[in-house]
Amino acid sequence: MTTDCIHPPPFDARWKQYFRRRLLNWYAQHARDLPWRRSKNPYRIWVSEVMLQQTQVETVKPYFQRFLKAFPNVKRLAAAKEEEVLRLWEGLGYYRRGRQLHAAAVKIVDEHGGRFPREVPSLLALPGIGRYTAGAIASIAFDRRAPILEANTIRLHARLIGYRQDPAKSAGQKLLWEAAEDVLPRKEVARFNQALMELGSLVCTPRRPRCEQCPVSNLCAVFAAGLQTNVPYKSPKTRLTNLTEAAVVVQKRGRILVRQCEAGQRWAGLWDFPRFEIESEHPRQIQDELVAKVRAQTGIAVQPDKLLKTIKHGVTRYRITLDCYAASFVSGTICKSRAKDIRWFPVHELDKLPLSSTGRRIAQMVNSS
Ligand code: ADE
Repeated sequence: MTTDCIHPPPFDARWKQYFRRRLLNWYAQHARDLPWRRSKNPYRIWVSEVMLQQTQVETVKPYFQRFLKAFPNVKRLAAAKEEEVLRLWEGLGYYRRGRQLHAAAVKIVDEHGGRFPREVPSLLALPGIGRYTAGAIASIAFDRRAPILEANTIRLHARLIGYRQDPAKSAGQKLLWEAAEDVLPRKEVARFNQALMELGSLVCTPRRPRCEQCPVSNLCAVFAAGLQTNVPYKSPKTRLTNLTEAAVVVQKRGRILVRQCEAGQRWAGLWDFPRFEIESEHPRQIQDELVAKVRAQTGIAVQPDKLLKTIKHGVTRYRITLDCYAASFVSGTICKSRAKDIRWFPVHELDKLPLSSTGRRIAQMVNSS
């Protein structure tokens, strides 16, 4: 273990005192003015932290402002339809976060009278709130002595203690949570945790950390050893799988065939055009496959017309070539049992539906043609 970690926690008292003072002084001078930092309102902090999971600060800013304008408090969010929430989430990706945010708002209203829980265990019982988000809300909004560990702080702590193994594995997680807990001060936890994330985000960056600007470089195990670009350990990139998919724009007298993605599917809760994987390679066979799969997905028989556009995009571990086809309605009706999630929708009202990013691009193309 000693070779895996140069300077494992616990830290000694003087080390911690120096670390905290240097970090907080640095933060006082360098903290960014971010929209969610202007108040200690737990609702605002919660929304921002959920949006910031897997998404960059600059991308989150406009989404956060629009979201807070539409749903200024937890009651308004709970009263909204999931579809409205997803429409505002459109483009942020990882839509499960938006669905769970809405489900948690409903639970806060139903089970906590609309008041935000203040303690980590009750926060952890809410949908979509894991140890990190619970710690962030409890510490930033309520100054509870709760540690946090997300992308920025994983990197920062891994470097500080010189942890050379994979920080995503359970042994690494255990050690890093220990470090995150051990460095926490008793007071000013809100500022301290945000300062850690800020240092990780602005100075202790993934590729070329700015160690010359770091207020705690003289405490950093990897800086002393010159190993800062080797830590944290990165597992070899998971191989991407190539897929060919088709999305079919079926028109019938000014209306377009759309379906709502079901629970468990990619983009659950969002709306989409008939879309599926294409296995054939020859044009004639592709035509037959399009007809068969649109019918299987919707009950509607179509005549494919032409290829509108090819979009290349990525979803999780898939590199997707998406061929978008136009098709005309031939026959068939949407079966009654599925009428709720398959519809003929007016072309000019597509902007009301939450769509995936590629779905929105197709909708814009259809609307402008
Ligand atoms: N990343 C995750 N949470 C953050 C926050 N509160 N401030 C800046 N970056 C973050």
